[in-house]
Order: sequence, then structure tokens, then C-alpha cells
Amino acid sequence: MTKGHYHTVAETGEIYLCLRGEGHMIMKTQNGEFASEPMGRGRMVYVPPYWAHRSVNTGDEDLVSFCVYPADAGHNYGDIEEEGFPKRVYRENGRIEMR
Ligand SMILES: [Fe+2]
Repeated sequence: MTKGHYHTVAETGEIYLCLRGEGHMIMKTQNGEFASEPMGRGRMVYVPPYWAHRSVNTGDEDLVSFCVYPADAGHNYGDIEEEGFPKRVYRENGRIEMR
């Protein structure tokens, strides 16, 4: 999984186009909201402004995405280091669970 980050310019969003692999994009706000979107080849995921995001590889190969965001968005990893995400992603017996 990636470290996860907010954007330094919090009102900027991001689009991920998954090129290869399987996984989930997990997202959270500082108000405690949580969301997830499946990632797979050809699937596009929108990360709205103000949402921290982390991609989690749940497959057996690399998870590869093409990401587009404003050049000045920046990466704020520090808040996620302190806050973490409210859920983790587990793969058990081929099933994906978040808890
Ligand atoms: Fe981002």
C-alpha cells in the first residue's frame, strides 16, 4: 500500500486510471468519513478535494496507476502519519474485507 496523503492544497482532487493489477483506493476526510473504490485494469477512480487517499494492492501482481492532479497540489503525508486510516484492507481466503 502507499503511505497515503492529503494534498497540501486541500481543495485539489485527483484522478487515478488503473493500468494493471487489483486493489482498492481507500479515502478519508478529517471529519471521519471513509470511502473505498475498487481498482482494476481500465477502472478510473476520482479522489475528491479534501479527501486523503491510499491505494492498497490486493492482488498478486503490481498495482499500477496513472494519476492526474494539479501540479501545485502537493503531498501532505504528515497528517496521515499521525491520524492513520479508520479501516485496513485484508485479503483472506480470496475475499477482501475492510475493518
Ligand atoms: Fe494525491
